[in-house]
Amino acid sequence: MSQPSVLFVCLGNICRSPLAEAALRAETVAAGLAITIDSAGTGGWHAGNPPDARSIAEAAKHGIDISGYRARQVRPQDFQHFGQIFALDPQNLRDLKRIAPHEFLGRSTARLGLLMDLVPGREGSAVIDPYGGTEEDFAAVWGDVSEAARRLVARMVR
Ligand code: 4NP
Repeated sequence: MSQPSVLFVCLGNICRSPLAEAALRAETVAAGLAITIDSAGTGGWHAGNPPDARSIAEAAKHGIDISGYRARQVRPQDFQHFGQIFALDPQNLRDLKRIAPHEFLGRSTARLGLLMDLVPGREGSAVIDPYGGTEEDFAAVWGDVSEAARRLVARMVR
């Protein structure tokens, strides 16, 4: 079986999905799992840019350096390449379904889902977009994505 692979997708790939990527990387290292992990945005405005300074600062609080991450837009090959794709909010999930190749959606919608569906009691909810927000909003994003990452790893080792 090929190595499991996970892609996280938000709007800009500079605030939320880089933190989700960092959280899952940390959890998989701690669990001794080898997993391909990446993140992307449904929008391409920030392609090539590092994460938002507030996301870099939030990750640093948890001992993780994400300053080398670079934003990119989702591409059609992602739907072939990644075993699981998680949207950070319902709007990005709708957008992913709109751009996904028909074969992908027909074959296995189970591979595309909402990140917070991993967390009991939070099903259907968004990781709130912190772009226009405060440092506290970025801390709340970390709380959400790190909890989801723990649930995902628990599901993988089960
Ligand atoms: P993200 O946050 O989707 O979590 O990366 C945003 C980043 C940029 C914009 C919106 C949200 N923007 O409008 O440029």
